[in-house]
Parts: sequence; structure tokens; C-alpha cells
Amino acid sequence: MKILSPPPRLLMGPGPINCYPRVLTAMSTQLVGQYDPVMTGYMNEVMDLYRKVFNTTNKQTLLIDGTSRAGIEAVLVSCIEPGDKVLVPIFGRFGHLLAEIAERADADVHTIEVPWGEVFEPEQIEQAIKQVKPKVLAVVQGDTSTTMLQPLEALGEICQKHDVIFYSDATASIGGNPFETDAWGLDAVSVGLQKCLGGPSGSAPITLSDRYVDMVRKRHHVEAGIRDAHHTDAKGSRIRSNYFDLPMIMDYWGEERLNHHTEAASMLFCARECAINLLDEGQDAVIKRHQLAGDAMLAGVKALNLKPFGDLSHKMTNVVGVYIPDNVDGEAIRSEMLLTFNIEIGTSFGPLKGKIWRIGTMGYNARIDAVLNTLQSLESVLRRAGHKMPLGEAVDAALAVYAGTAHA
Ligand SMILES: Cc1ncc(COP(=O)(O)O)c(C=O)c1O
Repeated sequence: MKILSPPPRLLMGPGPINCYPRVLTAMSTQLVGQYDPVMTGYMNEVMDLYRKVFNTTNKQTLLIDGTSRAGIEAVLVSCIEPGDKVLVPIFGRFGHLLAEIAERADADVHTIEVPWGEVFEPEQIEQAIKQVKPKVLAVVQGDTSTTMLQPLEALGEICQKHDVIFYSDATASIGGNPFETDAWGLDAVSVGLQKCLGGPSGSAPITLSDRYVDMVRKRHHVEAGIRDAHHTDAKGSRIRSNYFDLPMIMDYWGEERLNHHTEAASMLFCARECAINLLDEGQDAVIKRHQLAGDAMLAGVKALNLKPFGDLSHKMTNVVGVYIPDNVDGEAIRSEMLLTFNIEIGTSFGPLKGKIWRIGTMGYNARIDAVLNTLQSLESVLRRAGHKMPLGEAVDAALAVYAGTAHA
């Protein structure tokens, strides 16, 4: 076997992206035991750090071990009892994922949809809430499949008015786009590290409001092998997943430190470093860096004679969709970008498959050199494939955005 030595790719797709170097270093830190006070101290630090990342005072702010969908599954499976109504506004692939996970938990799932490339008006969602009367509203903030960012600001008040639990999957948007758990009235949020937070996938930070926590605590059951005399079962039905049982996971992260899984320590080190990285640079500064890189990439692809996809007034800062021109083979272009230039750009799913590429500028890669190298390389590859564009203008357009001299 050869030593592990992947090529030095620049990951400019919709995520995962290259990790911040300090995150890579943190990941290779030696382990300490699960109940070592040093380790439990790190767990407490992580809770505190992610309260800041999520902009919340929620006590229950912790990590679910697994990729982002582990966080989604933990939030939904812990609060849904069979037959509970869940409303999912779908504007891309990940809305479908929320609906599917809720269905697997035997929820009575109701969906509303807009075409890919659009988002919902709050009134559309309120109208559906009035009709369905759901227990839970589950909505994605940034759906990388369409590059759209659903505004959430008005939904908390609507959910409160109609007594609905408000959950959002902000995996792809957190860090690079504003997110305010408390100010927007969210009850549950789950994310991942592999987008704007600049880590690898494999840890899913979540935060839970007191209202959500009180609800799931009514289903608290302690695993037989770790039960003591003082443990009594709550009256509510037992949560169907052991791994994603949030009351048990909260016991593990809480004062009792009641054993559940073995915490994935290397991923915790990594999640800790992602949060520190974000907070050290400053949330506003990181969002601004994503906005600038995203605007520069958008200006650059337009200068390449490529047409951007979707409602640009609701585009996430960190990814842009571009129509594949009719005269080129989309997969051949991606392959040459990857194999010749070492740059990965993204394909797409569902109704957009074969129609658009998705180009990300996120986390560590929301940088001017990453933007310029991608545009320069794409220009070469497209030119060689016969696509016509004014040469050199893509890089100039991106530089003009960075210089603040771009036309609106
Ligand atoms: C919005 C959103 N939700 C969920 C996921 C699923 O994440 P994972 O592949 O980490 O389970 C992704 C991944 O791209 C995503 O963008």
C-alpha cells in the first residue's frame, strides 16, 4: 500500500471544501479518555462556543456524532411521534430529505413546493400552517442543490402564533450567511462542518430551545444497562432511535455524564476549532468575506458568458449555480477542471442534473486567490472546448468586485 497522498485539489464545489489548516491540526490531536475532566471540559467549551456560533443562549447546544443528516435525524426523530403533523416547505433536494426523514419517523408529512431556484414568501408558509396545523415546521435555510437561501426572519413569530415547533437545517449556510437562533425564534437548528465552517463532515452541531427540550424530555427513557435506582421513565412514548435519542444524549452532555455513545473526540476537536476559527475572525467579517467571494465569483462567471441560475436576490453567499452552455459537455469540462487543473466544481441533482454546475466559495476557500484561479482555469477549459467569451474579463470582473469598483 502506498502512503495516503491525495492530489492537492482545490474544492470549489457546493461542499465539502478544503479545511482550514488549524482544523486539520486539531483533528490529529492525541486523545484523552471519555470522562477525563480535560475531555468533559472540552465538551463544555464546545457547548459554549456553538451557543455563540448559533447566536443563542440555549443550554442544550451540543454535537451529534455523524454527518449533517445525523443532526436532522436526531432533531426530528426525538420530537415526532407517529401521526404527528410535520410541514416541510420544499425548494430543493434537502427539503425532500427533511420530508423523508420525518416520514420514516411515521409523521404525517405535508409539503408545499416552489420551483427549484425560488424561495417561499412567509405568507405562503403561514397559509399552509393554518391549513395543516402541524406540530413541527421543518425548513432548510440554504439549499445547496439550488443555491437559494430561504429567509427565516419572519417565520418564528408565525410559528409562535400558531404554536408550532420551528426547526431549520442550516448546514450549508451557517457561518457564511446571517443566522440568529434566538432573534428569529427557532426551537431547533442542526448544521454540519463541511461548508462555511471549514471543517470535514462528520459532526453535526445542534441547538435546542427550552420549549423543544421540555417536549422531548417527556419521552425520556434511560437505557437498561446504565440505569440507576433514581432513574424513572417519563410517560411519553420511547424515542425509536437509540443513537439519536436526544434526552439520552443530553444526559451524556449534562451534569450527570450518563454514558451514551463514545464521543467522537477527534471530530469534537475539529468542531471546536471550526467555531474558534469563526469567532476569532468574527462572524460579521466571515460573512462579509463569503459575500465578497460569492459576488466576485458571480461577476466572473457572467464575464465568462455563463448564465447564473435562480433568483439571485435570494442566492446564498457561498455558492452559485451556472447553466452549462449548450455547446459544451458539462461532465467533460468538470473532468478537465479536476484532472488537469486540480479544481473541483460541482454537478447537480434532480431537475437540475446535467443543466447547471455549482461553484462554491466557502470556508477556507472564500479567498481571492481561490476565486481567481477557478475563473482563470474555467476560462481556459471553456475556451479549449469552443465556448466563446471575451478573454481575461472574468478575472478582471472578480478583481473589480474585490477592489470595490465593480458596476452594480
Ligand atoms: C442543507 C443541507 N442539509 C443536509 C445536508 C446533508 O449533509 P451530510 O451529507 O453531511 O449528511 C447537506 C449536504 O450538502 C446540505 O447542504
